[in-house]
Formats: sequence, C-alpha cells, structure tokens
Amino acid sequence: MAFSDLRAFIDSTARIGELKLIDGADWNLEIGCLTELMAEQEGPLLLFDSVPGYPKGFRIAANALATARRFALALGLPTDAPKLEILRAWRNKIRDLKPFAPVEVATGPVLENILEGDRIDLGIFPTPKWHELDGGRYIGTGDMVVVKDPDSGWINVGTYRSCIVGKDRLTLWIIEQKHGKQIARKYWHAGKPCPVAIVLGCEPATWMAAPSAAKAGVSEYEYAGALRSAPLEVIRAPYTGLPVPATSEIVVEGEMPPPEEESHSEGPFGEWPGYYTHSGEECVVRVKRILHRNDPILLGNPPLLPITERYGIPLFAARIWDHLEQSGVSDVQGVWCHCHTLMVVVSLKQRFAGQALQALTAVAGMMTGASMYRYYIAVDDDIDPVDLKQVIWAMCTRVDPAESVQVLKSWTSDLDPRLAPEKRERGDFTMGRMLIDACKPFHWRDKFAVANKFSADKREEIWEKWAPKLGLK
Ligand SMILES: Cc1cc2nc3c(=O)[nH]c(=O)nc-3n(C[C@H](O)[C@H](O)[C@H](O)COP(=O)(O)O)c2cc1C
Repeated sequence: MAFSDLRAFIDSTARIGELKLIDGADWNLEIGCLTELMAEQEGPLLLFDSVPGYPKGFRIAANALATARRFALALGLPTDAPKLEILRAWRNKIRDLKPFAPVEVATGPVLENILEGDRIDLGIFPTPKWHELDGGRYIGTGDMVVVKDPDSGWINVGTYRSCIVGKDRLTLWIIEQKHGKQIARKYWHAGKPCPVAIVLGCEPATWMAAPSAAKAGVSEYEYAGALRSAPLEVIRAPYTGLPVPATSEIVVEGEMPPPEEESHSEGPFGEWPGYYTHSGEECVVRVKRILHRNDPILLGNPPLLPITERYGIPLFAARIWDHLEQSGVSDVQGVWCHCHTLMVVVSLKQRFAGQALQALTAVAGMMTGASMYRYYIAVDDDIDPVDLKQVIWAMCTRVDPAESVQVLKSWTSDLDPRLAPEKRERGDFTMGRMLIDACKPFHWRDKFAVANKFSADKREEIWEKWAPKLGLK
C-alpha cells in the first residue's frame, strides 16, 4: 500500500512503535547529534518540533528509513522478517516492477503557502547544522532535485546535497557525470539558467526513487510509481512548471545560472564514507518561489558513518545478488554489504573448485555509481553474511592469507579518503580491492574441522523447552 504523504508514513511508524517526538532540540548540532546517536542504536524515526527560534509545527523528520522494519513498512514488505528475508523480498519486488507514469492533478497541499518576492526566505525552516565541521546548514539531504531535459522533455530527478547560502540562494553539489548536471549543462551552453525544483520532504518510497540510477530518458517519477504500485500525483510548480509531488512538504523553485555567471563555495560536508570531503566552487540556485504545507516537515537524511544503515538494509546487495546470478554464479545463499558498500559478503553453497573466486571477481567488476569498494569476501552457506561476527570468525579460521587473498587494482570515488593527494591531483582515481576467499578450501572441505556449534534443530528444541521456564519468551 502506498502512503499518501510523509505524514501518513510517520503516523504508521508510531503504530509499529518506531516514532520518537523530540521537542526543543536546537538546529545547531543538537538535532544532528541526536540523529547520529539514535541511528547507531537502530532507533526510531525522530520527529523534531518546537526548535528554538522557529514556530511550533515547523518540523524535521530524521532517520526515516534507518531500520529494516521502517524500510519494509515504506515499501509494503513484511516488517517482522529477518533482515536477509527483507532483502529477498525487496529483490523480488524490484524484479517485477511496473513503471507508472505520474498523473497530473490540479492542486495539492504543497500549495497551501506560496512565498515569492520579498517573502522568500529559506531561513524560515529550522534547517540543522548536521555535523560539527559542516560548511553550512544543509537543507537538502533527503531531497529530490527535478530538472527537465530541454531537448526531449525528459524529467530527471536526483538527490544532491544542498546548502543554504542566502535568503534566496542554495548551492547544489552535482557530480559531473550525473544526469542532473548533464541536463543543466545543456541550458548553460545555450547561455540560459536551468529551471529547477527541489522537493524537501515527501513520502519515502517516492524519495527513494530519486537517487536510483534510472537510465537516461527514463524519469525517476515512473520508478517512484512502480515502487508505490500506484502512480505518483504531481502538480505543476507555479514558477518553473516542473512536476512535483502534490503532497510534498516543501518545494523550492528557482534557476541554476551558468557557473561562470554565479557560483558559491560549497562544503565541506560529512559524507557517506564517514569523513568530511569535497569543498569547492559549485553551482547555485536563485530561489524564485517557496511552496510549503502548513506545519511543514523537512526530510533530513544526513550522511552518517557507514556503521549505520540509511535504508535499514543495504539495497545494493540486491543488485549484486542479481548480477551474480546473471553472471552464471550458482548457489548464492545470501549477499550483504557492511560499511555501506565498502565490504561485500557473498554466502555460497560450494559446488566446485574456484566457485568462490568466480563470485568475487564477478562482483568486483560491477560498475555502479558509488565506485568506492574495498573488500569482497566469500563465505560458506553456514555463515550468515548479515552477521559480521560470523563473517570475521570465518575469515579468522578459514583463510590462509598466503593463499586465499588476492588484490586487484581498480577505480575509486573522489570521496575516498585513502586516495593520496598526489594521485588525486594527477587524476589517478585507482585503488586496490581485496578479494578474500573465506570458504573452506574446496578440495578438502570434507576434512575441515567441524564447527563447535549446536545444530539449528537442537538449538530450537532446547530453546523452546527452556525459554519459557527462564522467562525469556
Ligand atoms: C542521500 C543521498 C545523497 C546524495 N548526494 C549526492 C550529491 O550530493 N551529489 C551527487 O552528485 N550525487 C548524490 N547522490 C547520488 C545521486 O542522487 C544518484 O547518483 C542519482 O542516481 C543521480 O541521478 P542522476 O544521474 O539522474 O542525476 C546522493 C544519493 C543519496 C542516496
């Protein structure tokens, strides 16, 4: 079932006991710090209200999808299944997705307040300073940035970080190869500003479509409809005419002028690998309209150390699993990513010699947006790839570092903190990747020492008998 808006989703997180209302936290680091602390505990969705200096009702929602249960809730998947089962359900869902074109409606609650001219002031929202050393107050962390290709009319939506640099000015950091930047460049080459609408809070399944890597020419709005199993209702934003979800909380409309005409220093910002990275001159948005609902909710999704999970489960693991199967790797029992995508674990039922290496090389060759990866580990099917302690046990006992480890030289992202400054300067974005075969050696696996652990059946039998007596069930 698709939620009509962010509010309906937040209400249902209360129903599964995963909502915390917080009154009075300060925008200056308190909201950011609480967001970090609670994400580390896989805590509830946080709804901040009564931010000092701002009207009651101007709220911020953080950690919206940060547990597997809330992710499952947002996507209509079973909420009480183990994490690997939720990943399987997500895989099945995205395998059969049917795109739905958005439908245009005449009006929507986002038009309840339209600010223009002198009334434009981005400072009315209690935008947090999320991390201690951020270069400003980032209003766009869970945003959808909407632009239109001037040649084909294709509507592209992406998530790019956005900082307030004036009452009517924002920066956007859009990496060069992203469709959003390629489209902006078309306007700039024609000497024109690029019209843009930035959605700063909407229903989470819709938001999840924005950072998905849809092909050129395909609108992420269609993917949003597919995830929702229902078309997305959009209105035409009054200044740009760009389509935006009718139930958005806040929309900022404006124009991105060519950077030669106007740009602004941007960053640093605490980014997903867990470090402050990237600062420099970036493009700006000249704000022409602000639309917002009464009592708007800004969706905050700041990057945190990748020991927390932004979507409750590592979505990329589903793509890896598909890729392995398409590459002919059989008997994959599970795939998981730890530390965002920096460490990939593949659990296998070994059938032939070299199968683990086949799986590892197939995954290491995958091309994706994030580009920054380090460790690829194959484990046997008795190891739960979700459980890092089990993975480490396998690495410590089934790996001979002299034999089971290989290092490839590959590419990395400019967010990689390990990229030496001199390599960065000469544009050499290469880095090693380690393939670790932590499976029992295939040719003598039958002689490998037996694990000192009760069988699943025995554990269940004894637990069923004893848990009630011990008051544990
Ligand atoms: C939370 C989040 C924040 C992101 N921030 C940025 C960003 O600041 N700049 C950027 O270029 N990409 C960022 N991305 C990645 C893009 O949103 C993603 O690659 C998207 O597919 C780009 O769309 P496009 O190629 O259609 O422009 C972010 C992704 C997520 C999930």
